[in-house]
Amino acid sequence: MRIAICPGSFDPITLGHLDIIRRSSKLFDVLIVAVTKNPNKQPTFSVEERMDFIRRCTQSIPNVRVDCCGGLLADYAKEKKACALVKGLRAVTDFEYEFQMALINKQLNPELETVFMTTSSEYMYLSSSAVRQVAGYGGDVSQFVAQEILEDVEKRFLIGRSE
Ligand code: PNS
Repeated sequence: MRIAICPGSFDPITLGHLDIIRRSSKLFDVLIVAVTKNPNKQPTFSVEERMDFIRRCTQSIPNVRVDCCGGLLADYAKEKKACALVKGLRAVTDFEYEFQMALINKQLNPELETVFMTTSSEYMYLSSSAVRQVAGYGGDVSQFVAQEILEDVEKRFLIGRSE
C-alpha cells in the first residue's frame, strides 16, 4: 500500500490545494492531507475547522484521509508508513524553500521522498493568505475556495469586520 502525505497550513484550503490533492490522490493508494500546527503562525481558522473544511471539500475523493500533525513531518511520515510527501509548486519563488525542506526531511527520514507537483496554471497566483486578504476586505472569494466552505470562510471575516 503506497501512502503519501500532503502537508500544509490550509488556512483555509483553496482551489489550488484541492487541485494538487485531487491530482496526487491518483498516484497513491492513500493520500493523507495533514494540517500542520505551526507555532510561528497565528492561524485564522483552528486546526479542527481546517480539518473540517478539508473533509467537506474532499468527500468525493475516496482515498483521501484528513489528519493533523503537531511535530516533525519526517517522524509523522514514519508513524503513518508513508513513502512520500506531496508538495505543490506554484512558481520558482516556492522552489528554494521547498528544496531546502525536502533535503532536511530526507536527512531526517531517508525512506521519505518529496514529490513536487506543478500547480495548474489557473491557480498559479492563488494562496491562502491571498484568500484571507480578499475576504478580509469583503471581496468575493467564490473563485478561490470550494462552494462547500465558502459561506463559513466569508462568515469568519464578516465577524472580524463588524468588530
Ligand atoms: O502551507 P504551509 O504553511 O506552507 O506548509 C508548511 C509546512 C507544513 C510544509 C511546514 O510548516 C512543515 O513542514 N511543518 C512541519 C514541521 C516540520 O517537519 N518541519 C521541518 C521541515 S524542514
